Amino acid sequence: MTRTFEPRLSTRVQSLPPYLFAEIERKVAAKRAAGVDIISLGIGDPDTPTPAHIVSAMIEGVRDPHTHQYPTNRGSAEFRSAVASYYERRFGVTLDTDGEIVPLLGAKEGIAHICFALLNEGDLCLSADPGYPVYTTGPLIADGTAVHLPLRSELGFQPDLDEIEPAVLARAKMIFVSYPNNPTGAVVEDDFFARLVAFARAHDIVVVHDNAYADITFDGYVAPSFLETPGAKEVGVELFSLSKSYNMTGWRAGAIVGNPAVIDAYWRLKTNMDSGMFVALQHAAAAALNGPQESVAELCRLYAHRRDLLVAALRRTGMQVAPPKGTIYLWAPVPAGHTSGSFAELVLNEADVIVSPGAAYGPSGEGYVRFSLTVPDDRLHEAVERIEQRVRL
Ligand SMILES: Cc1ncc(COP(=O)(O)O)c(C=O)c1O
Repeated sequence: MTRTFEPRLSTRVQSLPPYLFAEIERKVAAKRAAGVDIISLGIGDPDTPTPAHIVSAMIEGVRDPHTHQYPTNRGSAEFRSAVASYYERRFGVTLDTDGEIVPLLGAKEGIAHICFALLNEGDLCLSADPGYPVYTTGPLIADGTAVHLPLRSELGFQPDLDEIEPAVLARAKMIFVSYPNNPTGAVVEDDFFARLVAFARAHDIVVVHDNAYADITFDGYVAPSFLETPGAKEVGVELFSLSKSYNMTGWRAGAIVGNPAVIDAYWRLKTNMDSGMFVALQHAAAAALNGPQESVAELCRLYAHRRDLLVAALRRTGMQVAPPKGTIYLWAPVPAGHTSGSFAELVLNEADVIVSPGAAYGPSGEGYVRFSLTVPDDRLHEAVERIEQRVRL
């Protein structure tokens, strides 16, 4: 009798938790296959298209045979110069195009791979909790350990850096933070970045600031770069993404910028993992960064409008929600008597609406759910109507 072949998987793969959105996608697929009209406010994936001038630049790039060969992980001169100009214009941050910018296949790639550049087995990474799930799985696959760093609601979803145990500080080598923040929608408070620079210097910890929502802000609020903070470039790097600002989630374009020693390590690592970003895409990304920014402002108006609509509707159901100044999410405490999971399940079962349970973003997300603003107004209305009518809170 022949034995079924079973690959012997690495411990790191076996210890990965199930990917939150994979679970959600499976549930949606099953319900849809059964003919149910599901409204997903789960995943934050922009529903409007990439602006036409960026699409045109991509077409132009693809038509140019010079783009058809291997790119380099240094990035094209055009791309690096576009990122540097954007940082100068938008944040007043000067970046050296030769050693302080490396293209990323999306910020997510940066989050996962930076852990390989910084962590040895047993090293700790301080990971914002709640936070983007790869802040904890990234360290895990790099054989490090993620330590949850609770974001305190009473501190405006900032961590209390003073409460970290000395034993943890002694072993921590990096910290992941992100403002405007997914999932809470919080923006950075006054002097937090300055305190973070001092903290990083005092404890020899590299700061990795994820600025994926840099330009998705509302009500006149303008988000800073971590690198604007005096001393920031000595202690850290920033991950920048074109996904949300330019509706380019499917294109996979971003950059890691900042501390040249970390950037060099990242580049050395990456040359052993992939061969860089398609040059035509670098051309399109440069067109996005250098081109008209009206589409970004329009997108912010769209999300602000949806935010207001959803906040008003949820308040009518009795839920307490504060309108965020940035991101594409609403973070809401669940009604009394519910966990984040039980409430998300109730909403899915009763209203056929998907919301993300807060606990999926870390233990401090318990007690909350996240609503994504990436569906058209009529579907948003319908989702809330269903919740109001079908879910007994
Ligand atoms: C905080 C945060 N960082 C990174 C990402 C991934 O961005 P990218 O599409 O650039 O990989 C996301 C996507 O939702 C995010 O919310």
